[in-house]
Amino acid sequence: VDLYRPRRANSRGLEFGHRAALAALVKGVDATAVPVADARPVAGGKALQGTARPVVSPVDGKTVVGTVHEAAPDTADAAVEAAAKGFAAWSRVVPEERARILERIADAYEDKQDDLMALLAAEGGRTLVDGLAEVREAIDFCRYYGAETRRVFVEKVMPGPTGEENRYRHRGRGVFVCISPWNFPLAIFTGQIVAALAAGNAVVAKPAEQTPLVGAFAVRLMHEAGIPGEALQIVPGDGAVGARLVGHRRVAGVAFTGSTETGGKINRALAAKDGPIVPLIAETGGINSMIVDATALPEQVADDVVMSAFRSAGQRCSALRLLLVQEDVADKVIDMICGAARELTLGDPADPATDIGPVIDAEARDRLAAHVARMETEQTVRFSGATPDGPLAGGTWFAPHVVELESAADLTEEIFGPVLHVVRWKARDLDAVIDRIGATGYGLTLGVHSRIDAVHRKVADRLPVGNVYVNRNIIGAVVGTQPFGGSGLSGTGPKAGGPDYLARFAQEQVVSINT
Ligand code: NAD
Ligand code: ALA
Repeated sequence: VDLYRPRRANSRGLEFGHRAALAALVKGVDATAVPVADARPVAGGKALQGTARPVVSPVDGKTVVGTVHEAAPDTADAAVEAAAKGFAAWSRVVPEERARILERIADAYEDKQDDLMALLAAEGGRTLVDGLAEVREAIDFCRYYGAETRRVFVEKVMPGPTGEENRYRHRGRGVFVCISPWNFPLAIFTGQIVAALAAGNAVVAKPAEQTPLVGAFAVRLMHEAGIPGEALQIVPGDGAVGARLVGHRRVAGVAFTGSTETGGKINRALAAKDGPIVPLIAETGGINSMIVDATALPEQVADDVVMSAFRSAGQRCSALRLLLVQEDVADKVIDMICGAARELTLGDPADPATDIGPVIDAEARDRLAAHVARMETEQTVRFSGATPDGPLAGGTWFAPHVVELESAADLTEEIFGPVLHVVRWKARDLDAVIDRIGATGYGLTLGVHSRIDAVHRKVADRLPVGNVYVNRNIIGAVVGTQPFGGSGLSGTGPKAGGPDYLARFAQEQVVSINT
């Protein structure tokens, strides 16, 4: 086993128990004064027109955080054309310079940490803990991919016959469309863009329709840090705008993170296009499970389950959806989980006392409510939390729920919110449990709580899951430490924040020179 350690360090965190540091953070993060009030299409360095729509905060359902100007189809086309022009100059920028600009973006994000967190809270409902972790992840992506740019994109001389020099190098593919989800509106948005740029591509970025302001601010910081206007365009809009971008004939690659359903649509749209085959990097959803056997420590399980299922209101692709507990310890574990869930505080994300913010919008809340209503008739709901009242009552709240299922097969889709499903299994049924998880077809994250090495080795060997976590929670993959991404219905790879990521955005070339 090699220790893989590129030369860079992850960003520094904050000890939330340190009163002075926390007080400074709370003072700095003013969710009522966000740093950007307008999200417009920007292409070729110029702001373009769009159809104005207010961006309303999910926290109270009434505060207007800003205005998004959503792109019309011809504006989306214009952005791709602008990127195609910008590609010529950007692709000639040497890797060392590209790496330096990425590092300057990291510095700018660090400098604007409080503003970014304020926007994440107001527009995305991200709590302070989540907001800080997200800003740090975005910074880490920039620095990690900066270091990787120097490693991966250095021209290599290959072994060959005397008198001939064989030079192996990577170059940008052309225009990369980057389409991202609302649940990591800064980190995933940034990670895709800087990777595509680092590989020498020009980019058209489409933020999720729920979080255009975070995207607009991030792009502004990237331009200020030195990414030329022609190399990076942003096109706010909904799925139809994303589809328009994907369908453009000049697009040479697509990076998508979002639902499995949308990933499938993009894949089919690309396959139906005439011309060159366009590569798709897709990171999608999951029905993430955790297996707990009778040797696990119940207190640790409860802590890790609550964190994995309910942190970020369960709105993480990595979040725990299905807990499979050996029946000998099931009653104790389920009781502890419900007891711990009862202690969680839902509320204003900018308040340090808050554990869980709102879900992203009314559509998400209503979908979750419909699911739980069905569970109430078909299964056993073991715990239902309470939502805030008073001034925040108009926000899009959905409290944690614990549902006991008769069979793991009863959970057939990703439920994207704070709903934990629990199933009991009998001793000696571990193989059937593993088969059941494999049968979902998803392969994003997986947890195992067991003190028996052979158990977690068997689970990891049998299931082609991207990230397997043993005796810990299953969220919060760290850039450069836990490269993140799934297989099967959960995505194509390569893993974000890992050593194979950047090369997939580039095209290889060999030049054989005879002298
Ligand atoms: P979504 O699929 O609804 O939307 C994602 C993005 O795709 C948005 O920008 C949307 O506008 C765009 N889009 C929608 N239809 C499109 C189309 N036909 N063509 C092109 N673009 C289109 O997903 P979401 O609700 O924003 O995000 C939640 C989902 O994302 C969950 O399923 C979650 O598991 C997944 N996710 C996966 C990862 C991962 O790394 N695997 C990370 C975060 C989120
Ligand atoms: N990378 C994010 C996590 O691991 C999605 O939670």
